[in-house]
Amino acid sequence: MTNVLQELETRRDQARQGGGEKRIASQHAKGKLTARERIEILLDEGSFEEYDMFVAHRCTEFGMEETKFSGDGVVTGWGTVNGRMTYVYSQDFTVFGGSLSETNAKKIIKIMEMAMKNGAPIIGLNDSGGARIQEGVASLGGYADIFQMNTLASGVVPQISMIMGPCAGGAVYSPAITDFIFMVRDSSYMFVTGPDVVKTVTNEIVTAEELGGAKTHTSKSSVADDAFDNDVEALSALRRFIDFLPLNNREKPPVQPFYDSIGRQDKSLDTLIPDNPNKPYDIKELVYKIADEGDFFEIQPDFAKNIVTGFIRIEGSTVGVVANQPLVLAGVLDINASRKAARFVRFCDCFNIPILTLVDVPGFLPGTAQEYGGVIKHGAKLLFAYGEATVPKVTLITRKAYGGAYDVMASKHLRGDVNYAWPSAEIAVMGAKGATEILYRSELDDPDKIAERTKEYEDRFANPFVAAEMGFIDDVIRPRNTRKRLASAFASLRNKDLKNPWKKHDNIPL
Ligand code: HXC
Repeated sequence: MTNVLQELETRRDQARQGGGEKRIASQHAKGKLTARERIEILLDEGSFEEYDMFVAHRCTEFGMEETKFSGDGVVTGWGTVNGRMTYVYSQDFTVFGGSLSETNAKKIIKIMEMAMKNGAPIIGLNDSGGARIQEGVASLGGYADIFQMNTLASGVVPQISMIMGPCAGGAVYSPAITDFIFMVRDSSYMFVTGPDVVKTVTNEIVTAEELGGAKTHTSKSSVADDAFDNDVEALSALRRFIDFLPLNNREKPPVQPFYDSIGRQDKSLDTLIPDNPNKPYDIKELVYKIADEGDFFEIQPDFAKNIVTGFIRIEGSTVGVVANQPLVLAGVLDINASRKAARFVRFCDCFNIPILTLVDVPGFLPGTAQEYGGVIKHGAKLLFAYGEATVPKVTLITRKAYGGAYDVMASKHLRGDVNYAWPSAEIAVMGAKGATEILYRSELDDPDKIAERTKEYEDRFANPFVAAEMGFIDDVIRPRNTRKRLASAFASLRNKDLKNPWKKHDNIPL
């Protein structure tokens, strides 16, 4: 018995060594942690249950039978984050560059199947040179099998990808199907083809960082949802993030203990809206003041900043926030803002997370760039996402809600459950100036007349009461009471039951 126990320990030790001391040192020299060190930080201490530690590849090409590592380049299993279960795979760059082999893919798929069966999220810590070159098509098949599982798991359990090293070729498409992608600055990058191939095919000279670094993907392409300075910061943020999410699509959002009074009044909100309607203010100030303890986890903070998305808690319970940002492009809706918010709304709806929409929007951005880029189709994504969402939807119009953008932003007509406005709200087809210039075109050369007409229009429409008379606004609330009123609105919707008609699936304008 002693011998077999000894053998077990020896084998375990070997597996824990990954690709060996030299490669571990090289990983550390790059400022990166190993696959196992990352898991230790991500999960609660001692909670990791590892599977398939002894799996080895079966490749016999290129002398591969001589080089086998226990675990074959990926560490898989499950553990807890603040006591809540999650499955995890962590690619080990010290073993064949974390490349994906046939057996390696099977390990990942095994935990994905378990996650779906047991209703727990899947977190992928990605650090991989892509398809294992020595295995050829077997490796490509492994990727495709993972894509298929990602697709089936979508909307069943949350899937989160942390990119912590190179991610090329097939390695980017699995994360791309998952719900959220986070990156580590300066040590991770994602691209379909690397700088060398780009140079050969298009003659462009570009660095890996410029082509697919964290800055590129968080601010230009919108492939990534946020980035962090190093592995430890990224994994700590991931622990905070996962606390906001339900474990699966059958669960309600988690309720965390909170130490912030629901009745907390905030007098400063009475003066948040500037007297001049063209002056901007920071909508995030309102988000922080509504949230329990001011805790806000923003999604895509560096992309399409004219719309803000992220998670807060109200009375301990997760709420997804979508808010126009008057500080950037006056909070206008454009292609990028529509895409960003639509995907966020759909995630919330998949996982039963109620949505709070804060509206201050002058309309859709006009112009050829937007029209040629398909703003009709992209704007429709947001319309569609709100229209199909059955989770509790609470909307607050703080200032402008003009035109089609009024309709889009979780209006009553798109099944908004509770729609509030501040007294400063202006709900109209368009702003007063534009409206009078169209209605009174013949009087345009008489500035006094136009000023009078504009004033008339403002008096009639630049307020929330016309919409309130029609029942499109349920109440006009005092800004200082916002947190309390929103909390009671969400509380009233806890047992909301609304189902869309049966369908195989919808056909959102992609
Ligand atoms: C097998 C690989 C590997 C791979 C790296 N290694 N990538 N082994 N298959 N794909 C091994 C190296 O041989 C080396 O082994 C170790 O990992 C570390 O690699 P280095 O090159 O020394 O590291 P570094 O300089 O940091 O460069 C990392 C890298 C580079 C940028 C990832 O290795 C690289 O470009 N690799 C190839 C990437 C690629 O083209 N993959 C295929 C994509 S196509 P030793 O023994 O020396 O430690 C694809 C198709 C899927 O994925 C399509 C599905 C739709």
